[in-house]
Amino acid sequence: MRGSFSALFSLFSILLISFSSLNSASVQENFLQCVSKQNLPSSPISEAIYTPDNSSFVSVLQSYGRNLRYMTPDTPKPIAIVAALHESHVQATIICSKTLGLELRIRSGGHDYDGLSYVSHVPFILLDMFNYRAIDINVTDESAWVESGASLGEVYYRIAEKSPVHGFPAGICTTLGMGGHLSGGGYGNMMRKYGLSIDNILDAKIVDVEGRILDRKSMGEDLFWAIRGGGAASFCVVLSWKIKLVPVPEIVTVFTVGKTIEEGATNLTVKWQKIADKIDDDLFLRLIVAPVNGSQPGTKTVKTSFIAMFLGESERLLTLMNNSFPELGVQKKDCIEMKWVESIPYWAGFPNGTSIDVLLDKIPKFVSSLKRKSDYVQQPIPKSGLEAIWKAVIESESVGMQWNPYGGKMSQIPSNETAFPHRAGNIFKIQYNVNWKEEGSEISNRYLKSTEKLYEAMTPYVSKNPREAFLNYRDIDIGINSNGTFEEGQVYGKKYFKNNFDRLVNVKTKVDPDNFLKYEQSIPIRKPH
Ligand SMILES: Cc1cc2nc3c(=O)[nH]c(=O)nc-3n(C[C@H](O)[C@H](O)[C@H](O)COP(=O)(O)OP(=O)(O)OC[C@H]3O[C@@H](n4cnc5c(N)ncnc54)[C@H](O)[C@@H]3O)c2cc1C
Ligand SMILES: *[C@@H]1O[C@H](CO)[C@@H](O)[C@H](O)[C@H]1NC(C)=O
Ligand SMILES: *[C@@H]1O[C@H](CO)[C@@H](O)[C@H](O)[C@H]1NC(C)=O
Ligand SMILES: *[C@@H]1O[C@H](CO)[C@@H](O)[C@H](O)[C@H]1NC(C)=O
Ligand SMILES: *[C@@H]1O[C@H](CO)[C@@H](O)[C@H](O)[C@H]1NC(C)=O
Ligand SMILES: *[C@@H]1O[C@H](CO)[C@@H](O)[C@H](O)[C@H]1NC(C)=O
Ligand SMILES: *[C@@H]1O[C@H](CO)[C@@H](O)[C@H](O)[C@H]1NC(C)=O
Ligand SMILES: *[C@@H]1O[C@H](CO)[C@@H](O)[C@H](O)[C@H]1NC(C)=O
Ligand SMILES: *[C@@H]1O[C@H](CO)[C@@H](O)[C@H](O)[C@H]1NC(C)=O
Repeated sequence: MRGSFSALFSLFSILLISFSSLNSASVQENFLQCVSKQNLPSSPISEAIYTPDNSSFVSVLQSYGRNLRYMTPDTPKPIAIVAALHESHVQATIICSKTLGLELRIRSGGHDYDGLSYVSHVPFILLDMFNYRAIDINVTDESAWVESGASLGEVYYRIAEKSPVHGFPAGICTTLGMGGHLSGGGYGNMMRKYGLSIDNILDAKIVDVEGRILDRKSMGEDLFWAIRGGGAASFCVVLSWKIKLVPVPEIVTVFTVGKTIEEGATNLTVKWQKIADKIDDDLFLRLIVAPVNGSQPGTKTVKTSFIAMFLGESERLLTLMNNSFPELGVQKKDCIEMKWVESIPYWAGFPNGTSIDVLLDKIPKFVSSLKRKSDYVQQPIPKSGLEAIWKAVIESESVGMQWNPYGGKMSQIPSNETAFPHRAGNIFKIQYNVNWKEEGSEISNRYLKSTEKLYEAMTPYVSKNPREAFLNYRDIDIGINSNGTFEEGQVYGKKYFKNNFDRLVNVKTKVDPDNFLKYEQSIPIRKPH
């Protein structure tokens, strides 16, 4: 079913690509002429534009790509990259792309798991926000203005520089861009205490499809609602966000304790599901599930690792664990006390003791090919289910999962408060993950197939009608109807947004009636009857 859809799709792309190469020189010329006419003399846009004949074109394009699957020589390239240095560059890029009928892709940190921020199969312009990364923190006001291209690590670092008792609830990976990460929800290890990033946004500065610069007041509450969780790329370009800082204690505690099936992982996971979403909101206890080698040569098993972020000192954490989850056997020696800002590199996977200066690295040290998918779990998975899941994980050979507990603040916020709908009723969210270094489409297909197979095996245990998905965990494969047809918006729209989808379609129809900001998983406009 899917095969025939993608065959049709590739034929369509070949036609478009050959059409575009005939005309790309003149399209490029038209675009350059158009933007220079829009240009303010005080901030020349020529300094921000990279066309394919510019020697830095490929390196600029690839510096902010985060999935090697979408960085091959065959991957379609933009007609031009505008690495905006000034808001007038964003305005000119929008106006000229729209006038010339070119698609626009908007990129901040480039972490879109399926490359939708920098790849399109029709002629397109890439608006790149990486130069647009100022951070302005006001501790008195407990707020900050952060530009879209700022990375999460930079934001965390700059907050900690100003105050040891403030933080911001957002993701784990330090190179995420504020543009995409916040507009897709932004979840991290303070979510049970403070909600998502979008639950802590006070204002935003955007450029709309007419090229107007608007803030919360002038854009109105409907659009401000939509860009918090609905993915801003369907509606506008976000220039900057005003975020609300949250209190963090001077000392936090982390630990990682791992157990294989043979060491009792199954019983521990049964228990974890009973407590993880109900325990004190100061504790976020992530469970990582991964296939590993067994202790005997040639055998395979599953390892579950319990990783804690606790907003407090180890003594209180140990009491809490002893009362609610003594089976895990966490001891004083497992606990590491540190400053909140030091917990960021710990959680991001850097070795214990890494300097917080890594938070300022704009480009990750290591980029690979990858696939991600997501699910929500609303009923505890029984022991027999876990045993079946472990088997499927071992069979997958390389696909792991993160189980991230909900509850706490997440359950108190109504599901229509922002466009992000997955609130009360969820025990945890799953991320499926696989990374690989080998090249070639045959190898990629093998990893993609094992991921799909594990996802299939999980069907009985996860949310249904719709099978929900998290927008920030972009998954291009969830857009197809069960009968194999593709209907714009209907399938992924319900999965990502549930009942909020209709309101998103209304906002989209109002603010972008020509559907200029369109991509594979954008919010569709309401068609007149
Ligand atoms: C290694 C890794 C770890 C991750 N960890 C987490 C995590 O802990 N928590 C979590 O919630 N998510 C996580 N994610 C997912 C991440 O939040 C999303 O991929 C997010 O969209 C990334 O934002 P970005 O700006 O880096 O990406 P981009 O690829 O630049 O953008 C993603 C989407 O947002 C749009 N967009 C980007 N900038 C703008 C803008 N200025 N205006 C309008 N639209 C814009 C893009 O067009 C695209 O649709 C992780 C991803 C990776 C690769
Ligand atoms: C494009 O390339 C030329 C050299 O080929 C360089 O001088 C120019 O600065 C480049 N453009 C930008 C925006 O850097
Ligand atoms: C910080 O916020 C306070 C309170 O709103 C305000 O009085 C002050 O001017 C702000 N400081 C800066 C540097 O903007
Ligand atoms: C798991 O718990 C059951 C009781 O629910 C017990 O009988 C069994 O021995 C436990 N298994 C392990 C490995 O601890
Ligand atoms: C797991 O075992 C295989 C052989 O069975 C070996 O090739 C591989 O390196 C081992 N992996 C790790 C992480 O030890
Ligand atoms: C754990 O709890 C038990 C009983 O509830 C108590 O006897 C024991 O002292 C506690 N241990 C710690 C380290 O708190
Ligand atoms: C982590 O590092 C600190 C000091 O940097 C050390 O005291 C502690 O024992 C280390 N913990 C682990 C689990 O390695
Ligand atoms: C959410 O829904 C409730 C009940 O329908 C309604 O009263 C409330 O205004 C809605 N909230 C938002 C932010 O739209
Ligand atoms: C496929 O399913 C969707 C809803 O799931 C339906 O709207 C559509 O009409 C179906 N298409 C065909 C060709 O059956």
